[in-house]
Amino acid sequence: MNVLLIGSGGREHALAWKIAQSSLLDSLFVAPGNPGTLRHGRSAEIDPADHKALRSFILEKKIRIVVVGPEGPLVDGLHDRIAEDPKLADVTVIGPKAEGARLEGSKDFAKEFMFRHNIPTAAHRTFVKGQLSDAIEHLDRVNSPYVVKADGLAAGKGVIITNDKKEAVKALRDMLQSGRFGEAGERVVIEQHLKGVECSAFLITDGDAFKMLPAAKDYKRIGNGDSGPNTGGMGAVSPVTFADKDFMQKVHDRVAAPTVRGMKKDGIPYQGFLFMGLMNVNGDPYVIEYNVRLGDPETQAILPRLKSDLLDLFEGIATGTLSERHVDVDDRTAVTIVLASEGYPGEYAKGKSIIGADLVRDAYVFHAGTRNKNDTLVTDGGRVLSVTGIGKDLESAIASAYRAADTISFEGRYRRDDIGKDLVKEPSQRATAAVKH
Ligand code: AMP
Ligand code: GLY
Repeated sequence: MNVLLIGSGGREHALAWKIAQSSLLDSLFVAPGNPGTLRHGRSAEIDPADHKALRSFILEKKIRIVVVGPEGPLVDGLHDRIAEDPKLADVTVIGPKAEGARLEGSKDFAKEFMFRHNIPTAAHRTFVKGQLSDAIEHLDRVNSPYVVKADGLAAGKGVIITNDKKEAVKALRDMLQSGRFGEAGERVVIEQHLKGVECSAFLITDGDAFKMLPAAKDYKRIGNGDSGPNTGGMGAVSPVTFADKDFMQKVHDRVAAPTVRGMKKDGIPYQGFLFMGLMNVNGDPYVIEYNVRLGDPETQAILPRLKSDLLDLFEGIATGTLSERHVDVDDRTAVTIVLASEGYPGEYAKGKSIIGADLVRDAYVFHAGTRNKNDTLVTDGGRVLSVTGIGKDLESAIASAYRAADTISFEGRYRRDDIGKDLVKEPSQRATAAVKH
């Protein structure tokens, strides 16, 4: 079977690496991919938003499965355009249509969905343009910290959490009045603040059946000890010590199952991955956000633990037989360290030579912001590479990941020193069993 994968980050390199291991694969194409994905498939020089070009490519290369890595093309209706094209009737898209993608694309839609289907999440109120004074008044009725979110996609910058009411008011003004967040901020959600520890849970679904994938913890802040600004993610660990069997069973029963059922009930066909961003509040899961894709860098930690054939699962989606497929998970631990360019998530230099990325043997190296320049690999983004170490326990996975990461060098290389180390402190909470269903 021929597969087209869309995206260019570390998540997509991990997906390409995993798909390439499948005995069901004939050819893999990645649009646009990166120097890492080139080892597993060919680069496709097409813009997936250009439907005519996409259609020609799919027909010419006899693509059966289109896997969409990032959320943008899904929110933008890529799946809808393929589904509505009679010439592409045999093509399966891994990722929802635009309506299902609203689970990520609109915070208000996601909150209403959760409310309707009784899925635990923070209490909220939504305000639209013209309701600025109502929104400001609402701050008087809730406790700090204030959580103010732009409704639409804002590249991780649309969430303001602050104890300072003035700052919360400014965020509301920026969104509802000054239009600083564009369309994404024309609708604003004010949420109750949840206290707990975060983790990410994942499932794959054909719209009817679903299978849980391994859970992971992401390290979102740039600095050690979760300090400094938010990033796309600076590291990941899977499994998560505090997401033990009991907790994951609750995630399955209270979040995953009602979400898949709810979509079906609402008449919204949903197929592909679903990322449940969760807060563990005293042992109970609350949904912070949904994403309609896998996480980055979580994917780089969870796919190395997935023993099952990913294309077999995709075929289960294509034929509506996911319930008959198996998800087998390696119970060892994976730790992923992101190597970034100094200055990220702000401004950073590009074009620095990368040394040692090809020499790593006992860990996985996934490319993100890299580029080949005259036979040399150079930096080309904020998050440059991610390195995943595997170990029989968390400590050995951390050691393996850092050992490998530190054999790679480039000018201005930055990484966090503490990925996974917060979880080592509580060995009594270590439990890794996967949920069976
Ligand atoms: P979001 O884009 O909705 O995932 O929010 C970004 C980050 O803000 C999350 O990963 C959490 O760390 C934090 N956050 C969002 N909503 C809440 C909430 N209701 N309570 C506490 N923290 C939150
Ligand atoms: N690592 C968080 C995300 O992919 O959204």
